[in-house]
Amino acid sequence: MHTQRLLTANGLNGPRPHPGTTGFYRTRVLPRLLDWSERLPGFEAARQRAVEYVGGHVLEIGSGIGSTLMFYSGEITSLTTVDPNPVLNARARRRLRQVPFPVDVREGRAESLPVKDASYDCVVSTFALCCVDNLDAVAAEIFRVLKPGGRFHFVEIGLSPDPAEARWQRRLNGLQRLLVDGCRLDLSIETALTGAGLGIKRLEMTRLEGLPKPLGCAYEGMASRAA
Ligand SMILES: C[S@@+](CC[C@H](N)C(=O)[O-])C[C@H]1O[C@@H](n2cnc3c(N)ncnc32)[C@H](O)[C@@H]1O
Repeated sequence: MHTQRLLTANGLNGPRPHPGTTGFYRTRVLPRLLDWSERLPGFEAARQRAVEYVGGHVLEIGSGIGSTLMFYSGEITSLTTVDPNPVLNARARRRLRQVPFPVDVREGRAESLPVKDASYDCVVSTFALCCVDNLDAVAAEIFRVLKPGGRFHFVEIGLSPDPAEARWQRRLNGLQRLLVDGCRLDLSIETALTGAGLGIKRLEMTRLEGLPKPLGCAYEGMASRAA
């Protein structure tokens, strides 16, 4: 897998309500799409890497059907998950018997997390930030809920450093947003995180195996709140 250090900035992270995806989409299509993504080696390996060094009291945002649950290590004290989709949350709850730590599955949006300030050692997000309505607001919430010294671990779709590829991402954005729960292809994760006061400790660009280049440009890494 090709991986390289990358810095991007595109100023597109502000409020952007996504096109109306129907109830049918969210209750029937999206769960199947997430099932399918668990069979793609590129997605599974990326989720596994994202949670590898996570421990203590952990919050996962945009947790979907609980695709990362199996990958958390024994270092977890507790896990809280937050996702607005009750159908996906119900699917995640069915998997909880398989994990050895307490998990609290909550319904909510990452723009206004239903949790206390400075209460988590780690926050995790895998392929969720592209779907939120306001990435800057979500980054500010991640900062708020992390304890001083806490870490945000992520793998997210983002803007390609290759201008030709970036043009394709912008052309494909409308279609992608309809097909994948409003997921944008051209966000700058780094701009949003640094704007919220988080310090980027690691940021690498990864190509997700099996996807066309404009769809498979992902950023994985870790950012922290100063101690
Ligand atoms: C592409 S799925 C990724 C799910 C999961 N993290 C994974 O790795 O498969 C995007 C997820 O973000 C959730 N989502 C959409 N808008 C959100 C928001 N404003 N706050 C939190 N999660 C949101 C969706 O319900 C969905 O579960």
